[in-house]
Amino acid sequence: MRGCIICLALTSTVFGQQTPPSSATGGASVTLRQAAAPRMLIGTAVSSRSAANPKLASLIAEQFDCLTAENEMKPVSLQSMQGSFSFERAARIVAFAKAHNMQVIGHNLCWHSQAPRWLFQDGDGQPLPREAALANLKAHIEAVVKHFKGKVKGWDVVNEAVNDGPSPYLRDTPARRAIGDDFVVKAFEFAHQADSDVELYYNDYNIEQGGKRERALHLIRQIKAAGARIDAVGIQGHWQLESPAVAEIERGIRAFAGEGLKVMITELDVDVLPRGRGFGADVNATERQGSDPYRAGLPEAVQKKLADRYGALFSMFMQHPEVTRVTFWGVTDGDSWLNGFPVRGRTNYPLLFDRQMRPKPAFDAVIKALQSNKP
Ligand code: G3I
Repeated sequence: MRGCIICLALTSTVFGQQTPPSSATGGASVTLRQAAAPRMLIGTAVSSRSAANPKLASLIAEQFDCLTAENEMKPVSLQSMQGSFSFERAARIVAFAKAHNMQVIGHNLCWHSQAPRWLFQDGDGQPLPREAALANLKAHIEAVVKHFKGKVKGWDVVNEAVNDGPSPYLRDTPARRAIGDDFVVKAFEFAHQADSDVELYYNDYNIEQGGKRERALHLIRQIKAAGARIDAVGIQGHWQLESPAVAEIERGIRAFAGEGLKVMITELDVDVLPRGRGFGADVNATERQGSDPYRAGLPEAVQKKLADRYGALFSMFMQHPEVTRVTFWGVTDGDSWLNGFPVRGRTNYPLLFDRQMRPKPAFDAVIKALQSNKP
């Protein structure tokens, strides 16, 4: 067990206290979780290996009060072979969270990426008959939700089902091809049947904006009209330095709150590198080339822009009590998925902590926005 997240959780817990013994941020006096409490949860995406580095484990425990598994609770991680479940890596994340008085968010139960083929397709890649696909989806959701009952606060039940373009309104995926548009409602029903206490979320990128917002609203109304439980909409928040405008994001928050739902910013990061056609977080929208202007470091002017952007975002979030959680998609710039997307191998700076785990000016801007906008 040497080096595993559970051991590190124990070694960094002193006399039963839930906080680590030393400041991982080199003495920053207020942490994110302190500044945000009790107004909202502040989360981060992690892997079960995050704690192999004691300094990183300490930083996570000190700054955040909510964890999402970046990859290790997705269907392909938990049940890559039908009927054979691997819960061990996810369990380490849950244990770390428990040791440090954190919540856990389950991510996710149904997504077109990182889903094992057998779930909705036959051996030739053809859609399974509807009843067979529904039975597979139900069996997966039931087993996973029951397994984590009492350990997970809420689940991203369906991830990224809404189409980027106008028609059809749902993305063309193996789940939709096999089951039909109601695969979304069914997934919510199966999750609620498995655990009537756990919160249920619809999670997607760019749904705060324009036409995709309208399609997401339509989907949410369909879920509600079917009588299924839905507690919150997760706006992923894979944003850029200048877009979308804060006012546009705010329109999205208002629209979903207007449906009587909580709103969570679930995968926040701010891409500072130039983009081609790719936007949001469409995992298929990779690009072969793109400039990599900040390999040697982030210029001060861009660092400031990033800080201002984060400050403006959090000041706005704080005006909306419906925003009950903000989760960053990673801890340090070095471990962000944006170093590999949409172009592989670039040097990005999208988060609050640099590659040496030091807080950036963006960190100070978030703390300030949290503190000065507290009700
Ligand atoms: O685990 C394997 C490893 O065994 C193998 O050697 C290695 C070789 O490439 O791949 C590893 O898997 C990678 C996995 O991350 C774990 O590191 C996959 O290739 C890689 O595709 C996968 O990327 C993840 C991506 O989802 C998958 O689409 C990113 O880490 C993760 O940040 C990203 O997260 C998504 C959210 O779930 C949903 N919203 C968008 C967000 C960003 O794409």
